[in-house]
Amino acid sequence: MLNDNRTGPAVVEGVMDRPSASSAVEERGQDGYATAPGPGAQRRLPREAEEQLACRLRERAALAPEFWSFSGRSRREAGHGIFAYPAMMVPQLQGALLEDVQAVDPDASSVVDPFMGSGTVMLESVSRGLSFRGTDINPLAVLLATVKSQSYDPELLISVRQRIALRVTEDQSHEIAVDFTNRDKWFRGDVAIDLSKIKRAISAERRKSVRQAFWVALAETIRLVSNSRTSTVKLHSYSAEEIENRQIDTIDTFLRISASQIEQLKDQAGALSSGLRRNPKLQISCRVADARSMPTVTKRATADILMTSPPYGDNVTTVTYGQHSYLPLQWIDASDVPGMRPELLENTRSIDSLSLGGKLKWSLSSADDLRTKSLAFAQCLDQLQDHPRNAQSRLVAFVRDLDESLDAITANLRSNAWMFWTLGDRRISGIPVPTVSIVRDLLVFRGSKHIETLERKIPGGSKRMAARNASVETMNTESILVMRGPCDTGHDSRS
Ligand SMILES: C[S@@+](CC[C@H](N)C(=O)[O-])C[C@H]1O[C@@H](n2cnc3c(N)ncnc32)[C@H](O)[C@@H]1O
Repeated sequence: MLNDNRTGPAVVEGVMDRPSASSAVEERGQDGYATAPGPGAQRRLPREAEEQLACRLRERAALAPEFWSFSGRSRREAGHGIFAYPAMMVPQLQGALLEDVQAVDPDASSVVDPFMGSGTVMLESVSRGLSFRGTDINPLAVLLATVKSQSYDPELLISVRQRIALRVTEDQSHEIAVDFTNRDKWFRGDVAIDLSKIKRAISAERRKSVRQAFWVALAETIRLVSNSRTSTVKLHSYSAEEIENRQIDTIDTFLRISASQIEQLKDQAGALSSGLRRNPKLQISCRVADARSMPTVTKRATADILMTSPPYGDNVTTVTYGQHSYLPLQWIDASDVPGMRPELLENTRSIDSLSLGGKLKWSLSSADDLRTKSLAFAQCLDQLQDHPRNAQSRLVAFVRDLDESLDAITANLRSNAWMFWTLGDRRISGIPVPTVSIVRDLLVFRGSKHIETLERKIPGGSKRMAARNASVETMNTESILVMRGPCDTGHDSRS
């Protein structure tokens, strides 16, 4: 069931020791996913657990009205801060939700995130002893999640960093190690030479998992030293004058970032080993896959919890995850990036065009089908009637793709699984698109039940999106749709 890209907290060279097994093992299958309770096991009524969860969620907000905003309480630590991936979740918020589920459903032992991005849910799940399976269409995201799933030995990383620094100092070559369309537009000559030295120095390392950690440091360095502005997730160049005047010390930036990453990875190792202590059979799988064709798992490997945040709309109007990853991916050895294929870097839009809503072609029959599943969709499509056809395309293509992914996603869930969808509404041609209500409708259509919708303000006013692009609205609120289901998968239904 698990594939080549599978990683685990204890598969890296120089890793921490696995804590020894405890009695918790007996309740789990060999693959670490929970098995069905035996015939004599006590089952609580589903409704009882739902009510308990709803109560816990409401209580949190009652005690602290802005609880879900996590204003001033969101921190990127213990591995969460190794790369600034767009639209990252708040780790502490997802962690609180997982703890609430664990409190009302102690048998829940596995989480799936089909749009895992940088692996926020992965790390929060695993550190609580929950097995995790995640996919993303973007290989850079899967590389980040893979590194975040490893228990690195900090002493080993410190000595590798010193070795890399030495190789860089000794490398006198002015040869630029990569070649791609518009390379010189995106990198100043001196920056490209220094990045080439770092690339050669990382490539010379023997262990793949260690190279992967330093590739992430290089990716973050590239984000800061390339000619693309950091204020937007789209590729958007500084002016010629700005480029010439920028003070950039590429090697120093890389060394600084890699030092702070080692600190993060040290704390990450601690979080992972506490997860392993809670569940010695814990499993992690992070792989490149389109959520629409997520591999179907065996019945006993279906997940108890879905926790995810899909794109909030087509990438023209929301976030260009692929474009944001395009420059770093040009510099990292492709054989070290899970699921990397040359065609993904054919142009700056290749990854985004494979993502949800990436292809705008649609048919009237797909729109009619969606109308039967979601009233919120039908009403929005009607409102877009008098707008250019492109506006309708952006709505239909995205919702069609999201709807298709729900079949594959729900097939990966046990009956009555807990679902947490972090979502945001957006606008197309000035018309509000009720993404949250649309997703809720599509899930109810599949037999799921709505439990609660948590609203949160995004501290600082907006989520890091393609904000500088005129066609894009910034997001300053988002919702967490809490649902349960589907109830007719035929898979084991616990609690
Ligand atoms: C909102 S981001 C997830 C962020 C993540 N929760 C985090 O904290 O880093 C949405 C993710 O969906 C991915 N994505 C878009 N279309 C996809 C598809 N068809 N299948 C799988 N992943 C997809 C994007 O690459 C992006 O990483």
